[in-house]
Amino acid sequence: MKAVILSGGFGTRLRPLTLSQPKAVLPILNKPFCLYPLEWLARHGVRNVTFATGYRSASLAAVLAKEKPRGVSVLLKTENRPLGTGGALRRASVKYGERFFVLNGDILARFNLSEMLGFHLKKKAILTLALVKVPDISRYGSVSLKRDGEIQRFAEKQPGLKRSGLVNAGIYIFEPEALRRIPSLIPCSLERDVFPRLAEKRRGVFGFPIHGYWKDVGTIASYREAHEDLLRGSSGRLLIGKGTRIGQKVKLEGMVSIGRRCRIGDGARIQDSIILDDVRIGKEARVTESILSYRCRVGDRSKLEAGTVLGEGSRISEFSQC
Ligand code: GDD
Ligand code: MG
Repeated sequence: MKAVILSGGFGTRLRPLTLSQPKAVLPILNKPFCLYPLEWLARHGVRNVTFATGYRSASLAAVLAKEKPRGVSVLLKTENRPLGTGGALRRASVKYGERFFVLNGDILARFNLSEMLGFHLKKKAILTLALVKVPDISRYGSVSLKRDGEIQRFAEKQPGLKRSGLVNAGIYIFEPEALRRIPSLIPCSLERDVFPRLAEKRRGVFGFPIHGYWKDVGTIASYREAHEDLLRGSSGRLLIGKGTRIGQKVKLEGMVSIGRRCRIGDGARIQDSIILDDVRIGKEARVTESILSYRCRVGDRSKLEAGTVLGEGSRISEFSQC
């Protein structure tokens, strides 16, 4: 089967990290994010993937030219202006003429896609949405389900409604018939226009509750959590990229991910932080619960307090407190 990954958003909730690159390229544990869904799809036999891109697509193209998984063919369809999730999907997949997967480009998931496909076929659905249970539905697309799993109602982001429930996980199976319900060449949103309308008309849209790991990494908080989750699942709580040099008496505490070719000065202390490639941290500097993008410079004896997020190339002079 084929897949479309929606990757054209501006990543506003991840600023300043996304000022210089799209979400899809931002690394998690030193690996560009886009490779996680690509590898996951490939494990489920998906070998043709189209990225629907817009914002800073050139950096995604550069990453994929170097690092895409073997045996997977990748195409980029770039919008000159954002077409919304619906318009982008229609444009990227219009020639498919067969059933295909769709993923929001900021979802880290590990569940059985083949089971989802089995459900979709059994229900003879024209569209199946993976659903996930979350403690607060207000920042997601929430659904009401009939007993047989058909979606009766779809409502995107209801800020006042803070309760637990099943929400859209941003992973879909589309039949060509469902694709034809999206207007072509005009901006439109799957979540605000297409899904509510199809659900209301009872057009065979089903929800498949998933069990397994799932995270939308589109906010600073969830970007941190994704690191914690993946590091917890590996051998330790520490990752040090190739070519990084750590000085004498450096303390690395809690969950720490350090990129490639970084320099950490003598006596520095780094705690629960994410540091991307080519960063320099001065002597006896303290970095606590912070995220530092590429090529940041932190002067000697500076202190970065919890919650600091530095954009690419930031300079912090010595003795600073942030
Ligand atoms: N190509 C293209 N063009 N992609 C877009 C556009 C566009 O105009 N707008 C958004 N995207 C991409 C984003 O890059 C992202 O990968 C995906 O579409 C979803 O957009 P987000 O901005 O991340 O949406 P969200 O997280 O607020 O909400 C969505 O995901 C939730 C699950 O995490 C919705 O689908 C919700 O219904 C869902 O619950
Ligand atoms: Mg998102």
